[in-house]
Amino acid sequence: MSRLENDTFLRALARQPVDYTPVWMMRQAGRYLPEYRETRARAGSFLDLCKNTDLACEVTLQPLARYPLDAAILFSDILTVPDAMGLGLYFAEGEGPRFERPLREEWEIRNLSAPDPNVELRYVMDAVSEIRRALNGSVPLIGFAGSPWTLACYMVEGRSSSDYRQIKTMAYARPDLMHHILSVAADAVVAYLNAQIEAGAQAVMVFDSWGGVLSEAAYREFSLAYLERVVAGLTREREGRRVPSIVFTKGGGLWLESIAAIGSDGVGLDWTMDIGRARALVGDRVALQGNLDPNVLFAPPEVVAREACRVLDAFGPHPGHVFNLGHGISQFTPPESVDALVETVHRHSRRLHAA
Ligand code: CP3
Repeated sequence: MSRLENDTFLRALARQPVDYTPVWMMRQAGRYLPEYRETRARAGSFLDLCKNTDLACEVTLQPLARYPLDAAILFSDILTVPDAMGLGLYFAEGEGPRFERPLREEWEIRNLSAPDPNVELRYVMDAVSEIRRALNGSVPLIGFAGSPWTLACYMVEGRSSSDYRQIKTMAYARPDLMHHILSVAADAVVAYLNAQIEAGAQAVMVFDSWGGVLSEAAYREFSLAYLERVVAGLTREREGRRVPSIVFTKGGGLWLESIAAIGSDGVGLDWTMDIGRARALVGDRVALQGNLDPNVLFAPPEVVAREACRVLDAFGPHPGHVFNLGHGISQFTPPESVDALVETVHRHSRRLHAA
């Protein structure tokens, strides 16, 4: 088994006892950090940064140099997978992601195939190996991918959407085509995550950012079924250790018990639901990850501390909590707020776990 100085994050996901609650933040490497903006300017575009192994490694480590976080997450994006399928990802400055060739015609959908992650996504695997080397056993490295449904949203809409009109039209009018896209995307995500595990990722997270825009029935059919397929296909053990998986459906609170039943080790929670109530619903079947509203970080440090304690106390002294935000950290966050957050989570949870 490879040496790991701080395995608190992995222990929490295994629902084993810990001395304190581990903490990391979605999008922890990013624009709120001046050192990220500096590296990003050197790289050129965001995609150039993702494709530059050394610089992707550098920005992955930046938040860990500043804060005593308990895990690192690969610096990349969920949309590298549809890009590798030939859809042509680009980022229009200030407007978010776009595809040059979104899926519109039936023949385009029928021609879709899962990329070979060790060829078309070699740059991601190179980043994973280099980050693992650089971390040198300090904290675990999390790999990630988008959920089939969330990837399909971007592949069909071609960009971020507010009403999901095109993809929902397809889901209701041509479910056969919708299922074909989701099925190819699920195969792609499984191969991509397993390649990340092979390259050194010690846990994996699936981001279902847009599952919450669906009705319950549509969620089960078009998102949850494919999350379950992804989880079932994952490599479970590597280097003599379990490689835990975390599934995060933003807006999925209403379906929490169903999500907790698909076989992942952890379930991510957005900020809308009280995490104590969430725990009461899932018991100790899965670990929970979350769930501070990222906007709390705009308040003064004492408020950040109070709200972080509220989340810790709501979960209580049980094993199985990974502290996180309920969604990605905002680019406008003052970096000092994160000091207050991480310090409070560690200090207050030590007391909680010692009691
Ligand atoms: O958590 C981490 O630190 C790892 C890095 C990471 C990024 N994107 C970096 C990024 C992760 C895990 C993602 C996931 C991702 N990407 C999701 C799922 C999570 C979520 O937020 O719901 C989604 C939907 C995307 C697609 C995407 N990528 C969008 C909508 C945007 C634009 C967002 C914005 O704020 O402008 C991106 C770009 C992106 N991905 C940035 C970063 C740091 C900003 C890039 C920059 O301009 O420097």
